[in-house]
Parts: sequence; structure tokens; C-alpha cells
Amino acid sequence: MPLLDFDGDYGRTYDARISTLIPAYSAILELAATATAALKPLAQQVLVVGAGTGTELPGLLTAMPQARFTLVEPSAQMRGLCEALIERIGASDRVMWGPDDLDALGRTRFEAVISHNVLHVLTPDAQERLLRQMAERVAPGGCLLVSSYSETEPPELELGLQIGVTRFKAMGMDPSMIEAVMAARNREVFSVDRQRLETQLVQAGLEPPIQLVQALFNRLWLSRRCEGGATA
Ligand SMILES: C[S@@+](CC[C@H](N)C(=O)[O-])C[C@H]1O[C@@H](n2cnc3c(N)ncnc32)[C@H](O)[C@@H]1O
Repeated sequence: MPLLDFDGDYGRTYDARISTLIPAYSAILELAATATAALKPLAQQVLVVGAGTGTELPGLLTAMPQARFTLVEPSAQMRGLCEALIERIGASDRVMWGPDDLDALGRTRFEAVISHNVLHVLTPDAQERLLRQMAERVAPGGCLLVSSYSETEPPELELGLQIGVTRFKAMGMDPSMIEAVMAARNREVFSVDRQRLETQLVQAGLEPPIQLVQALFNRLWLSRRCEGGATA
């Protein structure tokens, strides 16, 4: 049974677990929303890729008050939980569901594209494809905000893993869950390589990514397309 079954137990208990699993989870979401408020306060069209249960949405909706949001989320269970949140916060008239595959969005471009904690659930090849697809959808003058798990090289790698396990214990995570999370590394959770990230974004015409946050191995990057920059 995979750990990351978004249509099973993992998805059902996602909101209760995610702040323990991802260091500085709320801080990363908050800073990404603040970055969009600083850069694109008048945005009209925003794309959120892998919206999950929608935790990032309240901050983003406030940060870009005029924007309509297109959400992409392949898991039916996560979509259902997200829809319940959208209804609770009264945002139904500002959001719509997009296609699972971003290529189906055709030539639509967005002033802000946001994707939190999605890349690392994909294999490196799939990460590259999604990065290219997201970058291509950023309008001239627009921005891409991406957060993901992204390991450092040894010997800092071992140090970080040791601190990570100690943090899980300190936060009361069950030993069998710690074992399952560590076993998922390179099987279900794939570190995003910074150089591959930069290569995909730059090839798609964006500026090299700027790292806004690092919390252990979780990072938030910002990358922009210059005004007048060509889109694919
Ligand atoms: C770890 S959750 C992140 C949810 C939310 N963005 C957050 O940060 O809490 C990853 C989400 O990405 C979705 N996902 C998986 N593959 C995807 C893909 N190729 N495109 C978009 N979303 C994907 C999963 O269904 C899941 O809901």
C-alpha cells in the first residue's frame, strides 16, 4: 500500500498531518501568498496546480482579490475536500476546476502560477514535464511560485535527515509512520534537483529561480517572466 494515496487514508487525514510532515508548511504558504500580493496584486487569472485540500487558497484569494482561480487537482478525494473548503470560505464564484493535464489549457496564460508540494510526489521525468508546462503558462510579467522537497548533497544530507527524524519524534509522530515516511524517500517522494528546476524554467523563458525559503529540505522558489517576454 503506497504512503501517498491521495484517494485513500493519506488524503483523508492530510490536513491533520501535513504540518508535521513538512517543516514550515504554513510559513511557506504564507510567504508565497505575500509574494503574489507584492508582485501581482491586480492579477485577474491565477493557476493553482495540485491544490489538494486547498490549504493555500484562503491566503492567495486575499492576496489577489480581483483574480479568478483555475485549480488543477487529479485526486477526486482531494478535490472534494477542497470544494468543501471553498464553500466554507464563500469563494465558489472565484474558482473553477481546470484539466488534469495542463497542456489542455491551450494558450491560456496566467499572471500567477502556484504549486505547493506537488513536484516531489512525481518522478524526476514527470517533474520536468510539469515544470515546463507550468512555466509555459506564466504570462509576460507574471510569476511562478513553487514549493517542494529538495535535498542537499552529502554530508549535509545525512545531517538533515537526522534532524528531520528527530523533529518527527519531537512532534509525536508514530514510529511506524516515521519508518514509512523515510522508506518513501526515492520511491514515492522524489527530491527536486535545483539545477534541473532552473534548466526547465530558463528553457521555458523564465528568469532563474530565486529561493525565498529553505526549511530543512523544503524550499520555496520564485521565478518570473519579464514583461514582453515571449511565451510558447
Ligand atoms: C502533497 S499534496 C499538496 C497539496 C497542497 N498543494 C498543499 O501544499 O497542501 C500533492 C497534490 O498534488 C496532486 N497531484 C499529483 N500529481 C499531480 C499532477 N501531475 N498535477 C497536478 N497535481 C498533482 C495530488 O493529487 C495531491 O493532491
